[in-house]
Amino acid sequence: MSARPAGAAALLLAWYDERKRDLPWRDTGDPYATWVSEIMLQQTRVETVIPYFRRFMADFPTAAALAAAPEDAVLKHWEGLGYYSRARNLHRGAKQVAADWGGELPRTAAQLRGIAGIGPYTAGAIASIAFGERAAAVDGNVTRVISRLTGFAGEADSAAGRAEIARRAEELMPPERPGDFNQALMDLGATVCLPAAPDCAACPLRTCCAARAMGDPRALPVLAPKKKPRPMDWDVLLLRAGDRVLLRRRTERMLKGLWVFPMAEGRREALDLAAEMQERLALPVRNLRRAGEARHVFTHQIWNMVIWTAETEAGADAPEGCRFAGAAELEALALPTAMRAARALAGRILEDTENDSV
Ligand code: ADE
Repeated sequence: MSARPAGAAALLLAWYDERKRDLPWRDTGDPYATWVSEIMLQQTRVETVIPYFRRFMADFPTAAALAAAPEDAVLKHWEGLGYYSRARNLHRGAKQVAADWGGELPRTAAQLRGIAGIGPYTAGAIASIAFGERAAAVDGNVTRVISRLTGFAGEADSAAGRAEIARRAEELMPPERPGDFNQALMDLGATVCLPAAPDCAACPLRTCCAARAMGDPRALPVLAPKKKPRPMDWDVLLLRAGDRVLLRRRTERMLKGLWVFPMAEGRREALDLAAEMQERLALPVRNLRRAGEARHVFTHQIWNMVIWTAETEAGADAPEGCRFAGAAELEALALPTAMRAARALAGRILEDTENDSV
């Protein structure tokens, strides 16, 4: 680093003391709460996380309680948050903590990294916030603040860049209050040192910021261009058997463990889709009709979906890995947000069926 911004930590902590956001995972003194919150906060905004965090902590208040819960229940609590592997890994991690650590998280970043789903960022965040270790916790916001503050012009999201940012963050970190220092960096990145519109006038570090001295703080950090998400076409089938509809539990890496309606990539005519689904599911597929469309944008894919409805035998057995769900079950299972429109439509169809039969 060219120049150590003198007093940056003190300025930042003073700002944090005055401006820190009142968030439900702060000052709980519970390392497990810190863990849950830090996993939820990855790739997800604070405002979105708050209600999820509250519900999760109410139903799984300790690592032991989480370890004892079925995976379906954990995924249901994550429904709508996205990046569901975070939930599955957190669950695995809780089992590890229950089995290997007597239900209490280990106290050092190095030990924490041995737990499922805990990488360098989460280990640093938990170790500093819950146990006072002087460990960096570098996420996207912190990367931006440190790049600008110290004038780091290398590629910030390369392996070497990340290591250098972590080194600089550790160098700036005071011996006292490392957890507050890390959270102050996060808050500054989230509220003041914004990507396209940094509010330098409101920044406690404006007098020692290298990027500001260089003229344009928006020029940093230098990041590799993001890949565009790949558009994909899907036919999604709502197959009704009496007052229930068919769902499949995903085994693919993406959205693993979540329930979706049977779907086939590409676009087809009704007759082709009926034949293909009939063969795949080994069930009769009758009265196939186009019922709607939906679109969902993931980080790496865009799903353009055509939703179809059809009927099969009322008492049919579900194929392997699938189940027929009634209206209540359809609400109780964990479905990804991509299925929101299809689920709403399925709910209406089941409701109509029920009304017809009374
Ligand atoms: N983003 C990630 N972790 C955070 C925390 N502890 N406080 C605020 N924002 C965060």
